[in-house]
Amino acid sequence: MVKNGREVLSNIINSQIDIHTNYGGVVPEIASRKHIENIDGVIELALKKAEVTLDDITAIAVTYGPGLVGALLVGVAEAKALAFATGKPLVGVHHIEGHISANFIENKELEPPFICLVASGGHSHLVVVKDYGEYEIIGRTRDDAAGEAFDKVARAIGLGYPGGPIIDKLAKLGDPERFKFAKPHIPGLDYSFSGIKTSLLYFVRDEMAKDPEFMEKNKEDICASFQKALIDILLDKLIKAAKQTGIKEITIGGGVSANSGLRNRIEEEGKKRGWNTYLPEFKFTTDNAAMIAIAGYYHYLAGERTRLDVAPVSRIADF
Ligand code: KG4
Ligand code: ZN
Repeated sequence: MVKNGREVLSNIINSQIDIHTNYGGVVPEIASRKHIENIDGVIELALKKAEVTLDDITAIAVTYGPGLVGALLVGVAEAKALAFATGKPLVGVHHIEGHISANFIENKELEPPFICLVASGGHSHLVVVKDYGEYEIIGRTRDDAAGEAFDKVARAIGLGYPGGPIIDKLAKLGDPERFKFAKPHIPGLDYSFSGIKTSLLYFVRDEMAKDPEFMEKNKEDICASFQKALIDILLDKLIKAAKQTGIKEITIGGGVSANSGLRNRIEEEGKKRGWNTYLPEFKFTTDNAAMIAIAGYYHYLAGERTRLDVAPVSRIADF
């Protein structure tokens, strides 16, 4: 529940991470089933915590995509049913807009135009937020997303799921300069993360052939070096984007914006380069409902309404 676009009254997260950890990643069918089981209870609790009733609600925001279609379907069906039953307007939100909007919670003074580096499990985008609800994607990944690289590497070297938080924790104990991994050479503002992932996996495989305990003995340094290399890639293009556009208002968003190394580095580069940097509050970096409500609020203010026959879309190129 969000009031006036920036004040979070409640934000209930029913995480399925523990369930999916058993399988080494998200199992779509289980995710959808759990969504169905949990969604009514989550909404009830959100109303209770915010101390409001459905009558107090002005509009209902929902993510229509991109993402796992089964999980989206549950949210969209529920939101449509609520909108129909209460007569309140429905506002559809692109998932990535939500991640960008998470920045508005902590940073009340933040206003467009600004640049957002969005890095999650499914996306790595450089976005110019020209105005509320008006975006231009100026860079995107050509292969893996940054979060996907964290997850794939962690799984392949036996660290578990989800990879980002695990690598982040181990990286704090390691030497980021010890190992070097291949950097991509992509012109312009696009990203690529599959090269660094492969470079690390081959390196670990070769070292393990010589010493089966290599991974166990060096996991902190491997994580620190990998994380540093990945952050370098993210920052390289962000710096380029800031130069090209002349925009000095810089934000980050998406699950990878929870990364402590990335958060420190953005602040550091910001000071060096005269940027005004804004970080989303840690608890709003990974997927949450508040960020969707905020994005929905600005669409609502602009007079946009979503029809009740809206269908979820699992893949959307732009927004
Ligand atoms: O935004 P999100 O919750 O879901 C998607 O929209 O994909 O992002 C999840 C991604 C996962 O790949 C996860 O490993 C990564 O965010 N992540 C992190 C950290 N916490 C979550 N990556 C790096 N460092 C973290 N601390
Ligand atoms: Zn997300």
